[in-house]
Amino acid sequence: KGWLGETLYLYQGYWYPSITFISIATVMALQDTFQAKPTDIYLVTQPKSGTTWIKALAFAIVNRTRYNNKCLVTHPLLTINPHDCVPFIENEILRSKPTYMDENSTRLFATHMPYNSLPQSILDSGCRLVYMCRNPKDVLVSMFHFVNKLKGDFSHDVLKLEDAFEKFSKGIGSCYPYWDHVKGYYKASLEHPTRILFLTYENMKMDTANNVKRLADFIGYPFTKEEEDNGVVQEIVSLCSFKSLSDVNKHGKIVSGVPSHAFFREGEVEDWKKHLTKEMTHILDEITKEKFHGLDISF
Ligand code: A3P
Repeated sequence: KGWLGETLYLYQGYWYPSITFISIATVMALQDTFQAKPTDIYLVTQPKSGTTWIKALAFAIVNRTRYNNKCLVTHPLLTINPHDCVPFIENEILRSKPTYMDENSTRLFATHMPYNSLPQSILDSGCRLVYMCRNPKDVLVSMFHFVNKLKGDFSHDVLKLEDAFEKFSKGIGSCYPYWDHVKGYYKASLEHPTRILFLTYENMKMDTANNVKRLADFIGYPFTKEEEDNGVVQEIVSLCSFKSLSDVNKHGKIVSGVPSHAFFREGEVEDWKKHLTKEMTHILDEITKEKFHGLDISF
């Protein structure tokens, strides 16, 4: 059973529910029918690893001349949720035209799919992928709170931290095991460094401006010297900050079946220290050490 009590199915090494947007059926349908273009950009994460943030940053970078200060149109990120700006391909197979995109512009998509299950056309097209991962202990804590927020809204039983920990450490949950997902993209990023950029939430928090520049370079939208001198990078950092996005989405509507505000909680590094017991910490650290052995992944 998954974190919401739903039945999960194992497919190509990962667990999926039969319903909700990343279901076993959507993964299989995407593998059968999704057509990538070489100019596409895919933002890949596991849930609670900073998906909302990286969507906002990439959207702001790609569309920065369209919604600059001189433009009369209000920037979408000042009124709507980043999830409405950058669609998940998991939802895309249900929709005919993505939000805020025209035929000629770069298609910006997100996905939670593991590397080994990506549609073949994404791998063959030569398009770029940006993977953002986050400390597993913070992912666990963030997911635990998120699920309870949803359970509260839909009046289910409360999920206990002990149960969430048990499921997470055993690799049970939508798109889990966590460690295999990260490892898949990390190894692929070493094999294809020009196609896959591997980022961490922690590094993004520590030095957002430099990571925004790195992201812009990688996705083919580098900042000009003039833009840098005019503070455009800093504008994007502020527009996409936790404070700005959480304020905009305080009373937001439902996005992909989830209340808009539920995507924002603390937005901090090492919040796990306030929640996990010594024993939980020890067990997760041991699993991470073993699973990431020989890989240069640090949080
Ligand atoms: P916490 O629950 O630890 O606060 P996702 O977007 O993948 O669902 O991840 C949600 C997590 O990212 C939540 O973490 C949320 O608060 C945090 N988050 C959302 N927007 C953010 C932002 N602009 N900057 C930093 N963290 C952000």
